[in-house]
Amino acid sequence: MKTSFKLVPEALKKIIRETAEVSQETGMPAYLVGGFLRDLILGVKNFDLDIIVIGDGINFAQRLAKRLKADLRKHDRFKTATLMLASGLKVDVATARTERYPGLAMLPVVSPGSLEGDLRRRDFSINALALRILPGQDQQMIDLFSGQKDLAAGKIRVLHALSFLDDPTRILRAVRFEQRYNFKIEPSTLALLKQAVAAGLLQKTHAHRLRDELVLMLKEFYPFKQINRLGKLGALIFLSRNLKIGLATKNLFKRLEEEILWFQKNFSFSCWPLDVGMIYLAALLSSLPLVEVKAIIQKLGLCRKEEEKILSFYMMDSKFKQRLSDKRIKPAEIFSLLESLSCEVIILLRASSTNGNLKQHLADFLKIYRGMRLEVRGKDLRNLGVLPGPCYKKIFAQVWEAKLNGQVRSYEEEVVLIKSLIK
Ligand code: CTP
Repeated sequence: MKTSFKLVPEALKKIIRETAEVSQETGMPAYLVGGFLRDLILGVKNFDLDIIVIGDGINFAQRLAKRLKADLRKHDRFKTATLMLASGLKVDVATARTERYPGLAMLPVVSPGSLEGDLRRRDFSINALALRILPGQDQQMIDLFSGQKDLAAGKIRVLHALSFLDDPTRILRAVRFEQRYNFKIEPSTLALLKQAVAAGLLQKTHAHRLRDELVLMLKEFYPFKQINRLGKLGALIFLSRNLKIGLATKNLFKRLEEEILWFQKNFSFSCWPLDVGMIYLAALLSSLPLVEVKAIIQKLGLCRKEEEKILSFYMMDSKFKQRLSDKRIKPAEIFSLLESLSCEVIILLRASSTNGNLKQHLADFLKIYRGMRLEVRGKDLRNLGVLPGPCYKKIFAQVWEAKLNGQVRSYEEEVVLIKSLIK
């Protein structure tokens, strides 16, 4: 199978050419592996280069970084390095390694190894291909587990029967790739996956590792498909026994997709990067009781900001929504209700309601009020003869309210208002 580099952007081709040069210069064979190679064969865009080297991966990465003028982050313990290019591209360079799993669902013990050993430790046949990077047009595909055949047939297949036991995060990964590419987890792999779920392996795995995979699933193009399949396989049990994925979740996720698109089209500059994973996680957990949501947040080890996003959405009670749905509500009140909320929570609020007024008020907040600033400054108050003190805060608050409510529209009008206030 000849892999076509036609769709690969020139910047990536240059990295591959330089890698071939370093490989020749050092005599260390280098291979393209992992997701980049899988997507290259599928003709799917992927900009994250994954390279393995037989020999000293760190030394190789240092030489490559010098040629590409890239920053280098070394991880000596794992003999891997990440190159960060000025263009924003990222290249992972690893020393070929073998992994031994000391116990069920435990982190592996890593030691330097051969290409074969490195490919053998991987999750699925479609991710266990390697393409030797050679100068010129030459290519040499190493396909020890029929990965190309599985890619062509759309199959997710583990390399050995203990794969899910070694690493239960692969349960989530199998579903992620299956749903992303519209593939099928092939029958014997599916049977192993179900056995692993039934044996409670997910509950025995460190929840942080599962969280990372779960968030990746929620960031996929169709997160509902991902979650629904996980739910059907009983694999959401590591979050809660009580999570039901039904029509309500489906509809909420659908509306979130629309709201996220709307937000990204109109406001992406003002909130970047948008934490899409947290939006869907908050939505997923929203049907559970508060104590349980708090316990899940703890278990997953979410950071304070993430916790805040989930909980503040959770706490929006019907009174809060009712206020925002009132046609006569003043802009200043809209602002005070929403000012402390993150964009993610505002998106969640818009998706969780069908009330037109509420949606409009949230849009107004994003479009108009959030970016508004007072024109007058402290020095203007001093010039008007007001002595600095707590009264500044009071005056500014009143002018700000008037500005939000459209009662003052310019610097001059703000000054007129201040004059009337200090009288
Ligand atoms: N890998 C594995 N088992 C895991 C995680 C990763 O075997 N639990 C291997 C796979 O060979 C995978 C590679 O490491 O292709 C890189 O992993 P990662 O970057 O997480 O995924 P990608 O395959 O690149 O997928 P994505 O497109 O989602 O980044």
